[in-house]
Amino acid sequence: MNSTDYDALLSSLQHREALQQELLRFGRTLQSVESYGELLLAIQTCVRQVLGYKSSWVYLLSEDRQSWYALSAAGDVAAKVLSDFPTIPITNIAAYNELLSGNGPMVIEDAQYDDRIDKRIAVAMGARTLISVPMRLLSEHIGMLGVGTFKPEGIRLPRDEELDFLENMARSVAAVAGRLKISEDHRRMEWERRDLESRFFQAQKLESLGMMAGGVAHDLNNLFQVILGEAEMAEMVLSSDHPALDNLTRLTKVANQAVELAEQMLIYAGRGPHARHRFDLRETLEKMQRLMRATLPRGVALELQLGDAPQPIDADPVQIRQVLMNLLTNAAEAIGESKGTITLSLEGAPGEVVVVVSDTGCGMDAKTQERIFDPFFTTRPTGRGLGLASVHGIVRAHGGEIQVESELGSGATFRVAFMQR
Ligand SMILES: Nc1ncnc2c1ncn2[C@@H]1O[C@H](COP(=O)(O)OP(=O)(O)O)[C@@H](O)[C@H]1O
Ligand SMILES: [Mg+2]
Repeated sequence: MNSTDYDALLSSLQHREALQQELLRFGRTLQSVESYGELLLAIQTCVRQVLGYKSSWVYLLSEDRQSWYALSAAGDVAAKVLSDFPTIPITNIAAYNELLSGNGPMVIEDAQYDDRIDKRIAVAMGARTLISVPMRLLSEHIGMLGVGTFKPEGIRLPRDEELDFLENMARSVAAVAGRLKISEDHRRMEWERRDLESRFFQAQKLESLGMMAGGVAHDLNNLFQVILGEAEMAEMVLSSDHPALDNLTRLTKVANQAVELAEQMLIYAGRGPHARHRFDLRETLEKMQRLMRATLPRGVALELQLGDAPQPIDADPVQIRQVLMNLLTNAAEAIGESKGTITLSLEGAPGEVVVVVSDTGCGMDAKTQERIFDPFFTTRPTGRGLGLASVHGIVRAHGGEIQVESELGSGATFRVAFMQR
């Protein structure tokens, strides 16, 4: 061995030693990483300082293993990577097939002149040297760590020990990515569980409220029928100029209002009378246009998007009209004195028809949304809080579903789905 060979060996050994230290440091940094963003920052800092490459990126393998999707990227090309190539297909690109079938890293000296890489991507990115290191977890491919140079930087090949370094980095990165994925899955499951729980709770609450309201309304209705009957009898026996007749008229009027209220509650409880048959909802809405427009204040425009296809449903048309009028009235009240638009549209999906009532009114916050279907819940000074309660009862009695989407200050959208049998 001559002295130059010896010097080269020594410098390479020293370099390896230094890289080993950096690797330990990198490993320590990764321990406290809590997000993909922090992960990439750690990678980028290390790659820049230790290897001198300005750009780095991490792609993960999609579940079907047919493409890569960008987890994140750093450096001058980061924005372009993330916006132009959020996913890259694997099948047509030789380099990626090679990467997935081989074991080690893959170095493309100059992407501008290498057929293994997609020309479109190479040109768009101005890519030059590309180093892709497979990331594996428990011997499964999960993604790749990439570093490289772009247009003005020219080509820059890594030394052997630098490639080793990247491979070691990729191992640690894979472990962290795996850990992050698991805690992400956990969080999502926890969120879904809570969402489900709250929806069950909501359904249960409405169910028991419905039962109670139904029971009370039924009894009240009977009692008021008796009052009305007695009043009628009294009217008959009194002479036509009897001073108590006025009182009886007022009594009858109020009792009738009470009956109406009780009927609304019965409907809410899903116990209202039904007269179901098959009819075309599209046609019904078309015919209701005039009536609907007439009830709306002048500043409120009504837009109909009903399509051309008939939308037959099995339902009680009287109750369906009531649902629509209630939703429309609420929408108009949400718009109030100002100008606004209500959009009424029909969406036919296989097996169901969805009526969507959307307004540009005041909207509501999440807390309000939780309670709008409760009987007697209202935020309006003159409201009775029975509109949506009976809408809910009717829809439920029809085996349908109702959903609301709204944000305070930006309108509300009610979607009512009726099943077609
Ligand atoms: N389109 C809507 N935009 C904003 N808030 C709404 C809308 N529809 C209903 N709400 C809210 O739901 C509450 C209950 O509505 P409802 O049951 O019809 O009773 P009421 O109209 O008598 O208040 C309303 O007071 C209002 O706070
Ligand atoms: Mg209302």
